Amino acid sequence: MHVLVSGGAGYIGSHTVLALVRAGHSVVVVDDFSNSKPAVMGRLAALAGREIPLHVFDLTDRDKTDRLFASEQIDAVVHFAGFKAVGESVEKPLAYYSNNLDTTFSLLRAMERHGTRKLVFSSSATVYGPRSKLPYREDDDVPIEAVNPYGRSKVMLEHILTDVAHAVPGMKVALLRYFNPVGAHPSGTIGEDPGGIPNNLVPFIAQVAVGRREKLRVFGGDYPTPDGTCIRDFIHVEDLAEGHVAALEYLERATEPARAFNLGTGQGTSVLEMLHAFERAVGRPIPYEIVDRRPGDLPVSYADVSRAKAELGWQATRTIDDMCADAWRWQSHNPNGYPDA
Ligand code: UD1
Repeated sequence: MHVLVSGGAGYIGSHTVLALVRAGHSVVVVDDFSNSKPAVMGRLAALAGREIPLHVFDLTDRDKTDRLFASEQIDAVVHFAGFKAVGESVEKPLAYYSNNLDTTFSLLRAMERHGTRKLVFSSSATVYGPRSKLPYREDDDVPIEAVNPYGRSKVMLEHILTDVAHAVPGMKVALLRYFNPVGAHPSGTIGEDPGGIPNNLVPFIAQVAVGRREKLRVFGGDYPTPDGTCIRDFIHVEDLAEGHVAALEYLERATEPARAFNLGTGQGTSVLEMLHAFERAVGRPIPYEIVDRRPGDLPVSYADVSRAKAELGWQATRTIDDMCADAWRWQSHNPNGYPDA
């Protein structure tokens, strides 16, 4: 298939571009580099053995989006582009709602106009809320709900995409609910490069390990879990990327217009277990202290992965130690992330 990857220069997007190329698809990327660096494209070309065609513009620009669809025959879209920082979304809800919705509207209009009928959408486990039962199942009878504007933009988009898929003949949408993606391509040449102070656990641990930060602050040691720290379902970004390829191929045989899939491992790992796994990868202790809980964190989150296994024919295979070894290779080879120029 000829696949448009929006946000293909980002963390999950870049790994998915490579997985698509490995699976024999041709890929074109659109990215405005608002939260990624152009240097990733050269790294991708080296790994793919060919240049990846790139269009640099903001997808909220409907004319440019339409012209891109008019200029090439796009069979499917994998849509990553969007704002994703939870804390920032609380401070700037309007920016989050307008960007995350407008980019999607722009793509949907162009897809409808130019006959592209397959869409794989980046959703998030954050659509599950405090009332959802564990492990999280896609068909839980509690309505999906999120506790912040970022998460709510994903919930809204799941509803919007489902409505559109039912209305447009032939349209097929996969809504992929990511758990906690970590790790990097095993080459160590592409990986996660958060701007500023990392919000997420593993990028923060990696920056402490490489000497950019003094110590990890573990948010809360008094949760009702075996070691008192939160439990998450960490998934290797390479497994996640392969999940997108499986979802794209599923859309060719899908019978329902829209379907949600959890992409996780189904296994919970605590914050301290993750820290200790990273210490094994690095070969020395990583300083940390236990501090107050972070508002909004759920004690435990992990996926029921049976639907993805049965219907996508996909499951995660990489271990926590693989995730840490690969994250560390990336971080130690690129202590300051991608170069600016
Ligand atoms: C967060 C977002 C979620 C988003 C996901 C992307 C929140 C509430 N949720 O999920 O919407 O989809 O990232 O991957 O922000 N931790 C520390 N110290 C740190 C950083 C994190 O102890 O410096 C702990 C957190 O309290 C949490 C766990 O590590 O218990 C995982 O945190 P994080 O990586 O931010 O992921 P989530 O909170 O699960």
